[in-house]
Amino acid sequence: MSSTYGNRIKLSIFGQSHGPAIGMTLDNVPAGLPVDFEKLQEFLNRRAPGQNDISTPRREEDRPEFLSGIVNGYTCGAPIAAVIHNTNTRSSDYEELKDRPRPGHADYTAQIKYAGYQDAAGGGHFSGRLTAPMCIAGGLCKQWLEAKGIRIGAHIVSIAGITDEPVCLDWVHPQLDLINKDFPVLNPEAGQKMREAIASARSEGDSVGGLIECVVTGLPAGIGDPMFDGMESRIAQIVYGIPAVKGLSFGTGFSGSYMLGSENNDAFAVKDGRIVTETNHCGGILGGITTGMPLVFEVAIKPTPSISKQQQTISLMNMQTRTLQVKGRHDPCIVPRAVPVIEAAAAIAIFDAIMA
Ligand SMILES: Cc1cc2nc3c(=O)[nH]c(=O)nc-3n(C[C@H](O)[C@H](O)[C@H](O)COP(=O)(O)O)c2cc1C
Repeated sequence: MSSTYGNRIKLSIFGQSHGPAIGMTLDNVPAGLPVDFEKLQEFLNRRAPGQNDISTPRREEDRPEFLSGIVNGYTCGAPIAAVIHNTNTRSSDYEELKDRPRPGHADYTAQIKYAGYQDAAGGGHFSGRLTAPMCIAGGLCKQWLEAKGIRIGAHIVSIAGITDEPVCLDWVHPQLDLINKDFPVLNPEAGQKMREAIASARSEGDSVGGLIECVVTGLPAGIGDPMFDGMESRIAQIVYGIPAVKGLSFGTGFSGSYMLGSENNDAFAVKDGRIVTETNHCGGILGGITTGMPLVFEVAIKPTPSISKQQQTISLMNMQTRTLQVKGRHDPCIVPRAVPVIEAAAAIAIFDAIMA
């Protein structure tokens, strides 16, 4: 496995869902950066399981213990290491999955690649739980970027086809503040309908997916290193490391391919002595380099693979078709909990690019 990210800063994520602990190390962070632990905890709480009636009932505190790298509230230049202890595990739910892989999950591919030595309990290293350490690193990077006037916010664009208010691609700071804290949408009525769709899928033993939009404001022009470390490539590498992410686009993305060049191009203008673009169809990136306009990208999250509805699978031992009813405690929709994870991924990618 290869769970390390970054060119300048090096993020490593370790652990398994039902192991003693999960955690991360973050190398090459300069000394003297302040750490607001309360703010970090607030950020981690947004991702933590068991927060409401539409999340998995697995309750975990997600409280990191810092082992190194931070002294008296400031980074000291040594690698930052933190762990979160796993407390609420129930591994018996996962025993049959090595023989009967869950459709849509990584049980089958892990079995092929690791020949039965993989830790299958709770999804092992493939679990969404591994996004908690990513949120520790991302929550720290987010704080350090905020101190430079760079802000990151994400909201749910749609769940089960129910859409939030559209936002224009030249989003500015105040709109990030309009995102609802409990359920990250701009329009609370749309949010309520999404919650109902999630509850209805759960009651039928099923799950739903959706889209998340992430916006970064305050970025200067000139960040990104083409060809292969441009901002799109850097963000894509970390965002696709998040389990259940199946699509990513920047700016107008796929819909831009239906537009004329004259419609899709962003006209340059000078406003208050600053070079801006009248629109932001490119999502704030040209040639892999930031334009100085908000960086905007959208992520597709698939429906949670573990559903309690009966599904067809196989017995790997007998090579015969079997049925499977997944046990365990699962999110009927990953999207709301993935929102802070997407913000964390963006923060790590941008902090790394700026440090480079
Ligand atoms: C925050 C978060 C929570 C998740 N919770 C679950 C879950 O409860 N049940 C499940 O089957 N998958 C869950 N997943 C997704 C699986 O880990 C993922 O679908 C699986 O590892 C296969 O990887 P892939 O979908 O990227 O191909 C979650 C993902 C994230 C980001």
